[in-house]
Order: sequence, then C-alpha cells, then structure tokens
Amino acid sequence: MAVNNFREDEQQENVLKKVTILRLFSYMKKYKKEISIVIFIMGVIIAVNVLNPIFIKIAIDKYIKKGNSEGLYIIGIIALALNLLGRYCIKKRILIMSRVSNKVLMEIRQELYEHLQKLSFNFFDNRPVGKVLARVIGDVNSLKVVLTNSVISLIPDFTTVIVVLIIMFILNVKLALGALALLPLLVFGMYFIQVRAHKRWQVFRKKNSNMNAFTHENFSGVKVVQSFTAEDYTSNTFSEILNDHRKAFINAVKLNDMFWPMVEVSWGVGTIMVFYLGVRMSEANEITVGTLIAFTSYIAMFWHPIMNLSNFYNQLITNIAGAERIFEILDTQPDIKDINEAKVMPEIKGEVEFNNVTFSYDKNVKVLENVSFDIKQGETIALVGPTGAGKTTIVNLISRFYDIDGGSIKIDNIDIKDVTIESLRQQMGIMTQDTFLFTGTVKDNIRYGKLDATDEEVIEAAKSVHAHEFIMKLDNGYDTKVNERGTKLSVGQRQLIAFARTLLSKPKILILDEATSSIDTHTERLVQQGIVELLKGRTSFVIAHRLSTIQKADRIFVVDNSNILESGSHEELMNLEGIYHNLYMAQFEAIS
Ligand SMILES: Nc1ncnc2c1ncn2[C@@H]1O[C@H](COP(=O)(O)OP(=O)(O)OP(=O)(O)O)[C@@H](O)[C@H]1O
Ligand SMILES: [Mg+2]
Repeated sequence: MAVNNFREDEQQENVLKKVTILRLFSYMKKYKKEISIVIFIMGVIIAVNVLNPIFIKIAIDKYIKKGNSEGLYIIGIIALALNLLGRYCIKKRILIMSRVSNKVLMEIRQELYEHLQKLSFNFFDNRPVGKVLARVIGDVNSLKVVLTNSVISLIPDFTTVIVVLIIMFILNVKLALGALALLPLLVFGMYFIQVRAHKRWQVFRKKNSNMNAFTHENFSGVKVVQSFTAEDYTSNTFSEILNDHRKAFINAVKLNDMFWPMVEVSWGVGTIMVFYLGVRMSEANEITVGTLIAFTSYIAMFWHPIMNLSNFYNQLITNIAGAERIFEILDTQPDIKDINEAKVMPEIKGEVEFNNVTFSYDKNVKVLENVSFDIKQGETIALVGPTGAGKTTIVNLISRFYDIDGGSIKIDNIDIKDVTIESLRQQMGIMTQDTFLFTGTVKDNIRYGKLDATDEEVIEAAKSVHAHEFIMKLDNGYDTKVNERGTKLSVGQRQLIAFARTLLSKPKILILDEATSSIDTHTERLVQQGIVELLKGRTSFVIAHRLSTIQKADRIFVVDNSNILESGSHEELMNLEGIYHNLYMAQFEAIS
C-alpha cells in the first residue's frame, strides 16, 4: 500500500566513518583563530585544575603540619585567584565554541541547499520531499553537539588525561598502575560497542527521515485525507511509523547506555586500588600523606575526562550517521550537467527541432521513440493525446530536465546539450499544470519572473494577461498575502498570476501545461485571453485541454504510442478523420 512506503528505509552505503569525521571537522579549519583561543583558554583551565591538588599537598605537608598560618594564607589566596580565573575561562570557551559550531552548521546547511537545488528532476522524482527536508534540517542539527564538544571536550580532556597520567607516574608508579587497572578492558569494550551502535544509529536516522516524510506529505495533502475521511487510517500508519522510530531509538540508546557504567566501574576499581595500596605504602613510609591525598584527587581528575571523552565518543557515534547522510547528498552529482566546453545559448529566436528523439525514464519502457519534428520561429504547437502518452515528457526534454537516450534536440540549430543549462532555461517560460505560488504577496509572486522588475513592470504584466482586474479586488491589491501554494485563491486566479509571472520573464520559448478546468466562468474567459497574450510572438508549446487553445494553434500534435501520430491544423486533422477527429468528437462535441 502506497502510504506504507514511508516505512521503507532509504538505501545507504556503509560509509567509512573515519573519513566522515575528518571531513566534518575540516569545516572548522576556517575558524583556526577562535579554536586557538579556546584551546589556550582550556590550557588555563587545565593548569588551574592540575595545580589544585599540588596546593593541597603543599598546604598539608609544608604549612599545616608545621603550623605556618601565613604560608597557608598566601597559598589560599593564590588558589582562589587562579580558580576564579578558571571559572571565567569556562564561561568564555562555551560562548566562543557555540558561535563557531553555529557558523559551521550554517555553512553546511547553505552548501546542502545550494547543492540540492542543482540536482536533477530525477533525484527528486525518486524521493519524498520530507526525506530531503529531514537531511537539511534534522541531520544538520544533529551535528551541533559533535562540533561544539569536539574542541571543548576532545582536545582539553585528552590533554588533561595525558598530563595527569604523567604526574601520577612521576608521583608514584605503583599507585598509578593501580589507578589504571581496568583501563585496557574499557578501551576494548568501547570499541566493541561502537561498531554495533553506529549501525543502529544509522537505522534511527532513517526512521527519523521516514517520520518526517510521512508528516510532510500527509499535511500537504491534508485536504485529501479529510475528504476521504482517512484520518484514522493515516493516524494508524503514523503510529506504526512512530513505533518504528521509537524501537530504533531504544535499540541504539541501549548500547550507548553501556558506556557510563563501564567507565564508572573502571573508575571505582581504580580508586579502591589506590586506597588499598596507598594506605599500606604510607604505613610503610614509602609515601607521604600529602602524596596519597593528592593522588586521590588525581584519580578523579584522570577518570573525569575519560568520562567526558566517552560521552563525546557516544555523541559522535549517535550523530555521525547524520553527517554521513549529508555528505551522501553533497556527493551526489546532478544527472544533467553542463558539458566541459558548454557555450552560452545566444538569444533564442525560436526554431525547435527534434531529430529521432528516443527517451525513457527507466531504461526499460520507451516513452518516446524516434520522434522527429521541426518548428518554425513563433509557431504555436498544441500537444494533445491520452493521459500518459508523453506530452509532458516532450516539453520537459526541450528544457533539458532529462537527457535523451538517442537522437538530438536543437534550438535555432544548436544542440541543447552544447549550451549551459542556465542560459537555456533562462530563456524558457515553463508553466506546469499545478500553479505553484510561494508564500508572500501577489506582487512578490509575479516578480519571481524577473527579480529586479519595478512595480510598474509587474502591474503591466498583470494587465496584459487580464489579471489586474481581479488582483485590484483582493483585500490589499498587489500586496495581498498569498499563503503556501496560494491556496487562498481560485485555480483560475492562481493561473492568471502565474501567467503574469511568466510574461514578465519575457521567455523566448513558452511551455504551458494547461490545467484541465474548462468551465465557462468569468475567470475562465480571462484565462483564455491571458493565454492568447502569452503566446503572442513566441514559439509556444501548449499541452492543451481547452478547445479554444487547440483551435488557435498553428499545428496540433497528437501524441500517443511513444510518437507523434498526427500533426496539422484543426481543420486538416478534422478532415483526416483519424485519431484527432475521434478525440474531438468524444471530448468537445457536447460542449461546442
Ligand atoms: N518521473 C517519471 N519517472 C518515470 N516515469 C515517468 C515519469 N514521468 C512520467 N513517466 C511515465 O512516462 C509516460 C509519459 O508521461 P507524461 O507525463 O509525459 O504523460 P502526459 O502525456 O503528460 O500525460 P497527462 O496528460 O496525464 O499529463 C507515462 O507512462 C508515465 O508513467
Ligand atoms: Mg502531463
């Protein structure tokens, strides 16, 4: 069942984690200055922390034992001052690192967005928008803690561990070995868990993506859901998806939760060993009491960063799957690309030639086979034919949204493969069946056709396609807000706005996938007049459903069975008494 597709996970290769991590951190290269400051600050914090037990050792062994209160006083003030400085540094480092990681996230998101925009139709044909959204929003967000903590935790904690390790070994080798008794076991355990946890977090991110896609699609189509009273059905499906999501999370987090107890046990055993050995050694006068007390502080100082590090490792495993999904998209090359020596398309006059064009979406079923035609500058071509015949496909090929399998497509005698996609599409005006309006005002939506157009140009375009009249009747005229997809307007009104938008862009070739409504209302008449205005003076392809458009066309192409079966004017084709004649009789006789 279609809706259940959302429970199907995206395919994903097992990407090499080390490469992913390095690639992720390479985004921070730009922030060397900030990171150096943070590392310096961390150095201060570590120094203060490491010095504290030494102060205690000196205080006990030198001053308290000997009753030297003045020395105690001085050392107390020094310790206090240093610790205040340490506190200040801690605050500062968090601020700087948050700033850096937010900037990095912003850059990754921008890069992802720009890259996605370049990907071909084919990429979007094959995945729900919600899954794409999940990567741009959720997966990027998941990287935040990794980026922030990499510098705050990884570098300083690692340094602390090394420094403390050295001090412990200098103070006493035997005690040091006791404190670290279980460390090798811990390292082994962590590696063992990590391998499994990584896979489970990958699954979790996929489930997250499924949830996103389902929510996005069902709220986009909420009107369909409600008209078919399918609320219970979709709620049930959603609940199944949520369940998958929950299970994947629990599965993954179960493994992560084994980290902490492992560290705690190792820490605990280390402490017991130090006390056990330390008390005996101090009784045997092998070490001073001060050394033993300092040592007990160092155990905590050693194991605490280990805990942080394991926590960071945990976060890394949890979130690296997000980075993998982002890089996977960034590494996806658009199917449709400019060739190396691509030229800029000169100003298009409007001759279009298909030469034995063969095309299929998936390599099995040929949608077009050996299609050839020649269109003169300024001609209007109406494409008619049964649903699924390939009309939309033909016009998509002219703008090179897909590459053909055989033959060639030429505009003004230039193969469209030899010119840059940008210079080609800039000169095309493409209007799809479902008019898409963006959130914003009516004016903004028309101006989308030419971003630097003046208000006068916008109004002029609207007047030309007979949209001005109805726009002026809206609450705020051209400044009326249109919500997402323009749902506050009627279908006809939306089309008129789209006409104005396209007219404003002054396309050299116009492609219009006509919407099927042909009720004879006032707006419908305006739409018809709008179309006439749009077609004037430019080569146009209209996938036509309106009799008026078809009859006015210079030539009509009847598309079916992967080819153009008949072509000619309305009268010619009627006289032929072939497919067009039958289509016409079936569809239009009743209303004409
Ligand atoms: N993105 C796609 N991926 C795979 N197959 C596709 C895709 N788009 C269309 N098709 C298939 O190609 C064939 C032609 O589709 P096309 O959209 O060109 O038909 P059409 O003539 O425009 O139909 P309609 O009048 O319903 O809009 C159909 O069989 C359709 O299933
Ligand atoms: Mg179509």
